[in-house]
Amino acid sequence: MSETGTSTVHARYPDHLRQQVDDYLEGLWFSVPDAREAEEARGTEGLVEAMRYSLLAKGKRIRPVLALSTAEALGCDPADLMPSAAAIELIHTYSLIHDDLPAMADDDLRRGVPTCHVVYGEDVAILAGDALFAEAMRLVCEEQGGGPAVQVGILRELSRATGVAGMVGGQYLDLKGAGAGGPDALAAMHALKTGRLMAVSVHIALVLAPPPPEQEAIYRAFAREVGLLFQIVDDILDVAGSEAEMGKAVGADERMGKVTYTSLHGMDRARALAAESHGRAMDLLHQLPGPVDDLAAIADTAFARQS
Ligand code: IPE
Ligand code: IPE
Ligand code: MG
Repeated sequence: MSETGTSTVHARYPDHLRQQVDDYLEGLWFSVPDAREAEEARGTEGLVEAMRYSLLAKGKRIRPVLALSTAEALGCDPADLMPSAAAIELIHTYSLIHDDLPAMADDDLRRGVPTCHVVYGEDVAILAGDALFAEAMRLVCEEQGGGPAVQVGILRELSRATGVAGMVGGQYLDLKGAGAGGPDALAAMHALKTGRLMAVSVHIALVLAPPPPEQEAIYRAFAREVGLLFQIVDDILDVAGSEAEMGKAVGADERMGKVTYTSLHGMDRARALAAESHGRAMDLLHQLPGPVDDLAAIADTAFARQS
């Protein structure tokens, strides 16, 4: 246990869930070039390789692990949510591939390796992102259990979190410099750009195993808080983190003249805001009856992470 700012962290990430996510991702058909399904996609090996390259590079897998940990807290077997949890990681990876393109952030390093477009070209990288998004939808439709109501409910959550009132809308606001509109505009932009894909990781578990309404409200508040916390810390690490640990370029926000939590509030205040957010996330978890240790560890990791 350690003290960071005003909050206490335990930082025991559920590595067993992360391992299960990695194993599942490696087993996906496009991850296995000689699988039977690859027959139908003859000639697309280069595309599949680019998808594989970015997806199987070392990501933290925090979104799918958050989804599985929420399922666990709700009394489910985490494995029952794996296809949809993995779908979120596919969508997240697509967002990173596109975010790194020269037309967007123009980054050369991601997850510790050269970015998708640097290795495979911009054209293939665009298609790899597109295909990962489509594969995510397919996973929910074909592999997620629980019946059509659960599948459609999860697809609804994923499409909302990804579209205009979600990640893509947030990316647009970021490109247009919306953060310069002040603290509220910055928080609103972050809530869409990063917050919605983090929060939906909790929401899909609520679709699979709905708790009583008063608990659901607490889960939803926790989901929002973790998304905010994650992005505040991302802004801090862009200034204070190391490229070796992050596996991506640091200092990119400042270079691009972006308004961030650190540029707007200063480093000390940004750290204090992160500690407050972490404290609120923990308070919410304490109000829940389920086994929330793994959720607490994720909030701790979102707060105390160095990568
Ligand atoms: C990076 O996300 C992009 C943001 C939304 C801040 P992660 O920090 O989860 O990246 P990976 O998945 O571990 O590479
Ligand atoms: C990337 O956000 C977020 C999405 C791809 C939706 P950032 O540009 O802030 O994150 P990094 O620094 O590239 O990981
Ligand atoms: Mg970026």
